[in-house]
Amino acid sequence: MPNKVAFDQPFPQIAASEALFERARGLIPAGTQTLAKGPSQYVDGVAPKYLARGKGARVWDVDGNEFIDLTMAVGPLVLGYGHPAVDRAIAQQLESGITFSLMHPLEVEVAELLRRVVPGADAVRFSKTGCDVTSAAVRLARAYTGRSKVLCCGYHGWHDWYIGTTPRRAGVPAETRGMTEVFPYNDLFALMEALDDHVACVILEPMIFEQPDADYLRVVKRACEAAGALLIFDEMWTGFRVALGGAQQRFDVVADLACFSKAVANGMPLSVLTGRAEVMKLLDEEVFFFTTFGGEALSLAAAKATIEELRELDVPARLETAGRRLLEGYNRLAASKGLEHTWAAGLPCRTLVSFDAAAGDPLLQKSLVQQELIRHGVLWTGFHNLSLAHTDQDIEHVLLAYDRALDVLASALAKGTLAESLRGKPVQPVFRKTQ
Ligand SMILES: Cc1ncc(COP(=O)(O)O)c(C=O)c1O
Repeated sequence: MPNKVAFDQPFPQIAASEALFERARGLIPAGTQTLAKGPSQYVDGVAPKYLARGKGARVWDVDGNEFIDLTMAVGPLVLGYGHPAVDRAIAQQLESGITFSLMHPLEVEVAELLRRVVPGADAVRFSKTGCDVTSAAVRLARAYTGRSKVLCCGYHGWHDWYIGTTPRRAGVPAETRGMTEVFPYNDLFALMEALDDHVACVILEPMIFEQPDADYLRVVKRACEAAGALLIFDEMWTGFRVALGGAQQRFDVVADLACFSKAVANGMPLSVLTGRAEVMKLLDEEVFFFTTFGGEALSLAAAKATIEELRELDVPARLETAGRRLLEGYNRLAASKGLEHTWAAGLPCRTLVSFDAAAGDPLLQKSLVQQELIRHGVLWTGFHNLSLAHTDQDIEHVLLAYDRALDVLASALAKGTLAESLRGKPVQPVFRKTQ
């Protein structure tokens, strides 16, 4: 019998997952198209590897096991799987076509909608992936300023200009690597030192899990202005989540350019570049940024429905409330068990559970918690990516599951049996170079 969302079950049968993965071996390098969904992020032999279906905040793997999902497709599913209004919009659009030989009216409608909700969105362009738009923003900044150097902070995608700063930089020419520098978050001194008159732009995730110091983002903006560099916010995670208008609204700082994807279309592949008219107008002619599927209509229909739902249901406020229960609940549980070395942090809509090396190998601790949560019907990689579909009962279930999982962790730490408690290969580090 497949597992359900229930407590203290046997470990789930995952034979169909394992059989699929065997077929992928040697055929699909790395096994996955999205690192964060791949086998390195789950305890091998314990966690399922392939999901077949999702509804609301629940998912079913290919063996039929059911879980509460705390990853939500690594960000896009802000309303939940199969959200009716979005699915209806996609189905309706499908009747008249997916992608066309001329432009589609939805390109105009969704751009107008975004101009209304995103601060500083004088102009709007669409593409498919997050790194399409971060790379377009960087090229725009270089064209606008006539400079080459890029300063970045966060993760910005697989393209040469960014990935060359990381250990996964094979294939990126040294000349390209030399043009991007990484700066640490919340460290104004380090940024000022790097911000010379060769810098075309400063691109950063306005917030990841650490809160910006008071006025940090405002001072970064002023420093960019003074240096003649453009400020670009990578809002892939903050967009439509920390507020309807993203971090620019929440922190009241408007960047020159802003990049969005993930939550904008509740799972359909769409990314968005917005920004100041004077900069964006270079996309008219000078700067080339065009792609076959940029105006694909199913995703635009999904975006229109998603943004309307986010606004009408005040989703960011609801994520904040549910996320706060989870964040505070986790921290209370950890403290009550004397586990000071683990905590959850971030803005409530998206929090991360961390483990300190002082108590034991953090990856082993995380693996053990993940392994235990699987027995209680919770699929988890350390993140709480909240969606509208996570109910109060779901949050309650997750907290009760944490209660049990943290008992197992505390006992393994006390007995020094962390490694032996794992039934499979532990998880590997999340790839995220943020300095
Ligand atoms: C902050 C941030 N920027 C850019 C990207 C790249 O987006 P994509 O994977 O859609 O290219 C991601 C992906 O997770 C991201 O989290």
